[in-house]
Amino acid sequence: MQRRDLLKLAATAPAAALAGAGLAAAQTPRALRLRPGGTDDGFDPWVEIIAPAFRHNAAEVSRLAGGRPILAVIKNNAYGLGDQVVGPIVDGCPQVTGLACVRPAEALAMRAMGVRKPILTMAELGVEESAELVRKDVTLSCWMDDAGDRLARIAKAAKRRVPVHPYVDTGMNREGMPLARAIGWLEALASQPDVRIDGIYQMFVHDVEFDRVQLERFTAFLDRAAAAGIRPRLRHAAATYELHRVPESHLDAVRVGNALFGSPAGPDVTHPFDPKPVFRLKARVVRVERVEVGESAGFNRGFRPSTATSVALLPVGHTDGYASAAAGVCEVLIGGRTYPVVPGGVNSAHTIVDVGAAPVVRVGDLATLVGPDHAAILPAEVGARTKTGTLQVMTRLSALLPRRVVEA
Ligand SMILES: Cc1ncc(COP(=O)(O)O)c(C=O)c1O
Repeated sequence: MQRRDLLKLAATAPAAALAGAGLAAAQTPRALRLRPGGTDDGFDPWVEIIAPAFRHNAAEVSRLAGGRPILAVIKNNAYGLGDQVVGPIVDGCPQVTGLACVRPAEALAMRAMGVRKPILTMAELGVEESAELVRKDVTLSCWMDDAGDRLARIAKAAKRRVPVHPYVDTGMNREGMPLARAIGWLEALASQPDVRIDGIYQMFVHDVEFDRVQLERFTAFLDRAAAAGIRPRLRHAAATYELHRVPESHLDAVRVGNALFGSPAGPDVTHPFDPKPVFRLKARVVRVERVEVGESAGFNRGFRPSTATSVALLPVGHTDGYASAAAGVCEVLIGGRTYPVVPGGVNSAHTIVDVGAAPVVRVGDLATLVGPDHAAILPAEVGARTKTGTLQVMTRLSALLPRRVVEA
C-alpha cells in the first residue's frame, strides 16, 4: 500500500473519534491495521470500538475494586478488538495504572500508538526481544529458574536496569515460579543490581474456595519476602472472576480484562455491575431482492420461504468472525428494526437476512450484527444464541477488519 493511500484512509476516520482515542491523525493508518476498507462509500464490514464504553467499564471495575488501580489486561490482540486501537483508549482511563499483555508485538504496538502508562508483558520472552521491550520502557515478567542470568543478559543488551514483576505459582500449575522454590529465587533476583522489582503477582484458578487457599499462600509468601526486605510496590492477583467474588484478593491493583471488555459478572454474582459492550460489528446492505414461494436463498437451498419475502445481503461472514451458528437463530439490526438471519445464511463472507415482503431496507443501509443497540444483538445474546459464549463473539473478530473508534 502506498503512503498516499494510507493518508487517504486516515482521512476517512472521524476526527473526534480519533481524538477521543488519543490517536493523532498521523497514527490513524496503524489504528486501522494498515488495510484499506471500511470507507463510508464502500461495502466492507468494520468493527466499531466504543471508547466511552471502555471508560464506563473502567469506572465500574474501579468501584468494585474499592478505588484500587486497574492493571488493564489487553492481551490476545485486546481480546480480538485490536491492541493498537484499544491500548490508547484504556491508557486514557484515569483508573488504569498500567496495561498488561502477553506477546512482545502487543507491547510494542501499543507503545508505537502512544501508550504512555507502564506496560507489563505476562510471559517469559527471549533475551533480544526483551531488551527491545526494556528500551521501550516495557516491564517484564519472570518465573524461570534461570531468570537471574537471563535478566542480567537482558540488562546488558538493553544497557539498562530491567524492571520486572516476578510471577509466582500458588497452585494453578500453569505459569509462574512454584512457591516451594520461590523465596530463595526472589532473594537472588532482588540482590541483582541490574534488576528492579516493581511488582509481583500470581494467577487464580477461578474457584472461590481454592482461590482463597491460593491467596493465603501468596500472602504468606509476601510476608516472607517482606521479612527478607523485599516489598514490591504493586502486588496483584485478582482477575475479573476474583474482582467479583474474592474482594479480599484485590491487594494493590486488580489485573482485569474481561470486565473492562464488557463481560457480564455471571449469574452467581449479586452486587450491581453494569458493564457496557465495547464494540459493534457493522456492514452495509449490498443487495435487496425478492424471493418467491418455491424459490430459495443461499447454499443447499437452506432458506425456502413459505410466503414471498425479500432478502438483504450483508457482505460479512464467518471468516470475519460472525459465527456460522448465527444462521437461523440470530438477528441483525437495520434501521431500528431487527431481522432474522436465514437458515444457512452465514457463509464465509456473506450473511443473508429476511427483511420481509414489503421491505423498508435499502442498499447502503447500515446493519449492526453485534453491538449494544438492541437486546437481540448484544454480545452476550449472540454468544448465547450461537452457543459460542460472549468472549468468542469478540475474540473471533477478524484482525483484518478495519477498526473505527466511535464516541457513542
Ligand atoms: C495472567 C493473567 N492475568 C489476568 C488475566 C485477566 O483475566 P480476565 O480477563 O478474566 O480478567 C488473564 C487472562 O486470562 C491472565 O492470563
